[in-house]
Amino acid sequence: MYISRRAGSKAGKRKGIDMFYSDDLIEEVRSRNDIVDVISQYVSLKRNGNRYVGLCPFHNEKTPSFSVSRQAQLYYCFGCHVGGNLYTFMKDYESMTFQEAVKYLADRAGVSLPEVPMGEEEKKKLDQADRMKDMYKEAAVFYYKALFTPAGKNGLDYFTKRGLDREAIKKYGLGYAPSGSYLYKHLRSKGYSDRELADSRLVRISEKGAFDFFWNRVMFPIFDKGGHVIAFGGRVLDDSKPKYVNSDETLIFKKSNNLYGQQIASKSRGDTILLCEGYMDVIALQQAGFTNSVAALGTAFNLDHVLAMKRTFRGKDKVILTLDSDSAGRTSARKAINMLREGGYEDVRVLDMSPAKDPDEFIKTYGAASYAERIEQALDSFRFELKCRRNDFDLSNPDQKTAFHHSIAEMLYPISDEMKRNNYMEAACEQEGIELSAMRKLVNKLGEENRVKKVVTVSENTVVRQVKKDPLEGVLRSEQMLITLMAMKPEIIDAVSAYLKADDFSLETGRRIAAMMFENREGSALSPAQIMEKIAGSDEETAAVAAYFNYNGSELNEGTDLSKVLTDAVKQIKRASLQRQSAGCTDMAQLQKIVYEQRAVNTMVINVP
Ligand code: CTP
Ligand code: MN
Repeated sequence: MYISRRAGSKAGKRKGIDMFYSDDLIEEVRSRNDIVDVISQYVSLKRNGNRYVGLCPFHNEKTPSFSVSRQAQLYYCFGCHVGGNLYTFMKDYESMTFQEAVKYLADRAGVSLPEVPMGEEEKKKLDQADRMKDMYKEAAVFYYKALFTPAGKNGLDYFTKRGLDREAIKKYGLGYAPSGSYLYKHLRSKGYSDRELADSRLVRISEKGAFDFFWNRVMFPIFDKGGHVIAFGGRVLDDSKPKYVNSDETLIFKKSNNLYGQQIASKSRGDTILLCEGYMDVIALQQAGFTNSVAALGTAFNLDHVLAMKRTFRGKDKVILTLDSDSAGRTSARKAINMLREGGYEDVRVLDMSPAKDPDEFIKTYGAASYAERIEQALDSFRFELKCRRNDFDLSNPDQKTAFHHSIAEMLYPISDEMKRNNYMEAACEQEGIELSAMRKLVNKLGEENRVKKVVTVSENTVVRQVKKDPLEGVLRSEQMLITLMAMKPEIIDAVSAYLKADDFSLETGRRIAAMMFENREGSALSPAQIMEKIAGSDEETAAVAAYFNYNGSELNEGTDLSKVLTDAVKQIKRASLQRQSAGCTDMAQLQKIVYEQRAVNTMVINVP
């Protein structure tokens, strides 16, 4: 499934960066590193024909669809359609900025970089972020200490009442925010300006004066995965509303990029993440030994969280949802399952905490051992969804019952693993008392009707197109094959360009690549990475270009007859192009010319030197 990479992980153009390093230097650093060697540090790659393949690090998968071309110095994933060069890899995988990637790769290759003074803007931003983190740390210490003053006694009592001892309070940096403007005065005394305090959102400043944003609340600092305080959640001490108030987003805090408890969960062992709802749930679970627990903060769980999880918890590809047991919790679980699936998590389970309402209450009432049992009993997402749907329908009504059975078939047919599909089908039929053969028929019928073929196209707008049968597919693959082949053997470009023009390629990206290759032949041939640099701006374009240079068919393996492969591809591309031209042609003379060219295609032969 295709996930667009959101802002935050934008591969982006290196706008304004050229001021730092020259294009030549950037090119030199790239050419002194081999993409296969570098990516092998992170992904285990196996040679397969002219490419190296492995499990994609950008989405979860069991069969390798991640391809790295040593020759093109590009990578591409046929599963999630990310692609790019070494720089985009370092940016996306290691979350480096472009400059950091240049520095890292230069270091690795022993290229010395000129000292470049940091741009004023850049420097200011970095300084600001650093100062804001320091300020948040200062604030966290202030809130923590306040717990042990007379004003904070209620806060300390509150935590004690909820079963947290001094050690836990310290470990999670819990605190108390007194009413008034104490934090403001404290931070001013530490040298922060009104401007900085206003930007941090810890203080509200208006004509009426400066007031602390949080007051009379117990405080939960939110840490980034490195353990820096970047925000707070504050809870009232009684039943008043709103129960929780969270920090606004700032330079250092994006809600959907962070999960509560991540600083501990990211260091936990195992392959599973426990996803729960609240701050207290995370603390209770982690204190009980389930250190792999996290929660979304102050906003509904969304796809950005899923992407953040993948970045933060590498190697943890299973998720157990342990959301509240009420109907709101079940609805969130169904939504979260879909989102996690979309993000590539295949093994998602749902833990039932009833009769407790949430993990905090469960642990306090039944203890850690019972919770561990519930983990074992967690329903896989299929069985969970089945259970939810059973409640959606009134099964005493025959029509509703039929609709329920149809809805089970709807869940079954998209499961591509036949064994898995059959097992789920059998289990569902047995449990619901449905005749297996009737269900099988229904599922097969749906499967036939919806046999959608996923086709990777590389147009600017549609990265993945789902079409029943796309006549483009064949020719597009030939175009990708041809471009990969021309990059491998620049000596054939001359012969190819005698038959094909850039306009013969079916999509804009292909045309632009072909135009560049046809213009710069032999001695001045451009490397794929250079072509990428010149024509790819957005993430999608980067991936599209990478797709052209990572052809994954067997035609390019050693031992095949390259002349034949090449001739067939050029013929196919030319025919498709002529067909496009004739479809839109009304001029008789022009049409005749096309017919003549169509005939000429039949006798065309290209030899690989
Ligand atoms: N939440 C929020 N703002 C609110 C209510 C809830 O941001 N007004 C978030 C908090 O992160 C909270 C989570 O949603 O931890 C779950 O909410 P809820 O179930 O109401 O709270 P509990 O975690 O059960 O809180 P507590 O145990 O402290 O009552
Ligand atoms: Mn709760």
